[in-house]
Amino acid sequence: MSKKITLALIFGGRSAEHEISLISACAVHKNLVRSKFEVRSIYITRGGLWKTVEAPSTDIEALERGPAFSFLPWNAAPPVLGPLADIYFPVLHGPFGEDGTIQGLLEMAGVPYVGAGVTGSALGMDKVLAKSVLRDHGLPVVPFKAFPETEWTEGPAAVLRRIRRALPLPLFVKPSNLGSSVGITKVTTYAGLPAALDTAFRYDAMALVEKGIIGRELELSVLGNGSPEASLPGEVIPFRDFYDYDDKYKDGKTRFVIPAALPPRIVARIRTLGVAAFKALAASGMARVDFFLEKGTNRLYVNEINTIPGFTEISMYPKLWAASGLPFPRLLERLVELGFERHRNRKACVERER
Ligand SMILES: Nc1ncnc2c1ncn2[C@@H]1O[C@H](COP(=O)(O)OP(=O)(O)O)[C@@H](O)[C@H]1O
Ligand SMILES: [Mg+2]
Repeated sequence: MSKKITLALIFGGRSAEHEISLISACAVHKNLVRSKFEVRSIYITRGGLWKTVEAPSTDIEALERGPAFSFLPWNAAPPVLGPLADIYFPVLHGPFGEDGTIQGLLEMAGVPYVGAGVTGSALGMDKVLAKSVLRDHGLPVVPFKAFPETEWTEGPAAVLRRIRRALPLPLFVKPSNLGSSVGITKVTTYAGLPAALDTAFRYDAMALVEKGIIGRELELSVLGNGSPEASLPGEVIPFRDFYDYDDKYKDGKTRFVIPAALPPRIVARIRTLGVAAFKALAASGMARVDFFLEKGTNRLYVNEINTIPGFTEISMYPKLWAASGLPFPRLLERLVELGFERHRNRKACVERER
């Protein structure tokens, strides 16, 4: 029998999606086959402290009792080095996890990890940058305008004028660099724009205003490095007016249809667009790509990419793979293989450069 792989799960984190990360990490922990993996658990508190814990859990008080260690050599307050592993799996959603920051730390440490690298993670997290790159690759994105906060505070009338001229109602106003629907407002009258922009700027110094699409929300799981593969698409049917934070995490009344009921032609187009978006945004390992299918025109738009999608037992990413013939435990093994593969390729490139 080959030697077991030591895998360190990193979960919790400083973002608003802390609790979702805990649920995701519990599901990942449960589905890692023990004959293949020796699992270590690293919990990051909301405040950013790193702790060694027995296993992921949703009991935050218990997790916080774990001994702290420092992953940063220049922050040696608790001078203990944390658990060393063959590969690291950040199961962190949102800023300081999905945005390239922890990926940068792991790159500096020279260790293999699961998922996208620094560029792919940073691009995926930033809605304005992601849309610009997708558009540059000829991929369909919803018409939008982006505004830095200074432009809004210095000339609100000009900003409002530009939006009215370019975009019809309804509109969606979003902070560029966040997830979980935090800070997002649907605007149905132009009079509602100033409050919506103020809300978005509470979360980021860059906001985007998008044309609201009336239609269906579809999601696709992509897996791979150089030649990524796509799952079957699924559909999200929000319970509320749109898929907002409460709908995502509190009410749980959203319906998921897996796989989505769609004509084969549209399924094929979604899969092609999903793989193209994954490549355009320099993702690797995994990503969930989300779409709108416009009512009436049947036009597809790439809405966003999530480089660390939800991994709970009921999350789209693993569910779509299960429906496409790849069960959760096998999916995790594949992600680890891809993490090692990416590390080997990067190392080879770095060595060639020397
Ligand atoms: N342009 C749009 N047209 C219609 N609905 C939208 C639009 N943008 C966002 N939404 C709704 O808001 C939700 C959250 O927006 P999204 O861009 O996916 O941000 P997040 O990263 O927070 O998930 C979507 O799932 C969808 O229900
Ligand atoms: Mg979304």
